[in-house]
Amino acid sequence: MKQPAIKISHSSLGTVATLALALLLGATAAAAPVWLDELDLSKTSQGWGEAHKNKSVDGHALTLGNVVFEHGLGTHAESVLYLNLQGGAEKFSATVGVDAEVNNDATSVEFSVIGDGKTLWQSGVMRAGTPAKALEVNLTGIKNLILMVGDAGDGINYDHADWANAKFEISGARPETVAAPHEDAVILTPPAPPTPRINGAAIFGVRPGHALLFMISATGVRPMTFSADHLPKGITLDAKTGLLVGALAQPGEYVVTLHARNQFGTDQRALKIVCGDQIALTPPMGWNSWNCFAGAVSAEKVKAAADALIKSGLQNHGWNYINIDDFWQTHRDSKDPTLQGPARDAAGRILPNPRFPDMKGLADYVHSKGLKIGLYSSPGPWTCGGCVGSFGHELEDAQQYAEWGFDYVKYDWCSYSPELEAKRGSATNLGVIKSWSAAAPKKLTEQMYPYAVMQAALAKADRDIVYSLCQYGMGDVWTWGAQVNGNCWRTTGDITDSWGSMAGIGFAQAGHEKFAGPGHWNDPDMLVVGKLGWGSLRPTRLTPNEQYTHISLWCLLASPLLIGCDMTQLDEFTLSLLSNDEVLAVNQDSLGKQAGRIAKNGDLEVWAKDMADGSKAIGLFNRGTTETGVEVKWTDLGLTGKHLVRDLWRQKDLGTFADAFKASVPRHGVVLIRVGK
Ligand code: GLA
Repeated sequence: MKQPAIKISHSSLGTVATLALALLLGATAAAAPVWLDELDLSKTSQGWGEAHKNKSVDGHALTLGNVVFEHGLGTHAESVLYLNLQGGAEKFSATVGVDAEVNNDATSVEFSVIGDGKTLWQSGVMRAGTPAKALEVNLTGIKNLILMVGDAGDGINYDHADWANAKFEISGARPETVAAPHEDAVILTPPAPPTPRINGAAIFGVRPGHALLFMISATGVRPMTFSADHLPKGITLDAKTGLLVGALAQPGEYVVTLHARNQFGTDQRALKIVCGDQIALTPPMGWNSWNCFAGAVSAEKVKAAADALIKSGLQNHGWNYINIDDFWQTHRDSKDPTLQGPARDAAGRILPNPRFPDMKGLADYVHSKGLKIGLYSSPGPWTCGGCVGSFGHELEDAQQYAEWGFDYVKYDWCSYSPELEAKRGSATNLGVIKSWSAAAPKKLTEQMYPYAVMQAALAKADRDIVYSLCQYGMGDVWTWGAQVNGNCWRTTGDITDSWGSMAGIGFAQAGHEKFAGPGHWNDPDMLVVGKLGWGSLRPTRLTPNEQYTHISLWCLLASPLLIGCDMTQLDEFTLSLLSNDEVLAVNQDSLGKQAGRIAKNGDLEVWAKDMADGSKAIGLFNRGTTETGVEVKWTDLGLTGKHLVRDLWRQKDLGTFADAFKASVPRHGVVLIRVGK
């Protein structure tokens, strides 16, 4: 039986204790207590939810074990709170631990108190049920304090962390919470040269008989003309735009040499077209409407995003999908007339909402720019936003998507359940599922089932459609996503633009690398740079260095790259992050390897990815709060001798190094290098 909670009220206790201590020491001016919760806690940055004063992150009473605390901060890893002590603080004390509202094996956190760049106290790894730990830290002479909760290396799921009873003893000015230190948005990406340079994927998959659309991505001054040697029969090239279209009748590998020419020079590069079962041989790159517009998306906004992707020049760096997320369908119960209307026609075909009057016209428009188009649905009757889902209509939906000309489907999980599946009865899909099950190497689990249904439906469509699973990593989707022909699968819950969320998700991908490869990618969710905000736009809350970390890590992870910001409001810094061809080449590399973590020392991590040319792309990351040297040892990479090191963001050789390479890495920042060729 659960023991009754003991309630600790400190309003009087703390004062009594301080007074008693003062009397004991014969002090005339006792240090006065200041509760952490008296300060502005809205400056707390964290990986999930909102920080709460005197409540847990879920809004319950702060509870550690069976003790309820009246005072404190309820937060969630990864959490960072900066304080300026203003010279007056003498002591900080607190009782920390995982709030009793979670009871999950995935929970693990580590609390740190950092003063002027030095770790003053660290809790060690604490899990659900670990007894609370009391800390007391002397702050004499310390100016700046950071209260941090890390994810203890395994991602942020269920990491509800309490700084209970947290207080300062002060003898002068009161401490103040402050924003993270300002960083200038320094652009590292050099401008592309005026001469032609062919970028983007060098390998492309298409299924026999299906429409092929591939735009040669090339930077350089226009006009530019394109040509290709050894183009296979069935494929034509538009010399002015660089667009390859057509279809291949026979499976096989076709190596084409692409040429680009302008008034300043020429470039050439091989493109391998692989006609077979697999598509998405490199991670998809493009834009998705959710992180900026959420439920306010419309056909005009989607067109504007396509136009901006061209106008900004991003297409020349390999970006090519324009994906509509939730809210193109009619809504279950919204009062908004632009979301109302019949859900389906008499034949069961899905009908878009009035904001999308002509889905085929929209797809044609996007294709006319040399781009591809995607949409979103859910295997339940309703999507996560409450719009019409695909349950019971998978075949009609897949057919409709193909007829409209869609190239990408993101398929969620919302409102689906095995209980619902049991009620499906003898719907048309059961036939296809039976044949799937017979051929499957593994039993079809409840979690795989709805994805297998849509897989079967998509397989009947006469079109290559990238299949993106979005069920947040349930049932270790990375171990079976490829079996249901998923081209990518979300490995986590939804990302947001905080350091805690982005780093908590990104660095938790360690170990998933063995499940990624050409045609099937782990997806740690969309990019959170630029102006975004899920319906009310604002600049990303990530600092410039955090944004470098985000893009570098997602490239190393061979993640799908889906820009989440308003494309019509791209600023120069965001554009520079998205247009560094040497960085993007790490993501688009033909070998299709995902980086793994090869070294970790506290907050410092080294991630490495094998590249097709035998070189290695390496990220030296600093998850800590002060600039620190991070080293990669050649032995950790399986290398010996001397190697040339190239800085990928600056596109600059740094010299030849024996045994190891060390760089100074800023707070929450990265140095991204390529070694070994
Ligand atoms: C889920 C997904 C998001 C987005 C929304 C739409 O939360 O994880 O990426 O697609 O649904 O409602």
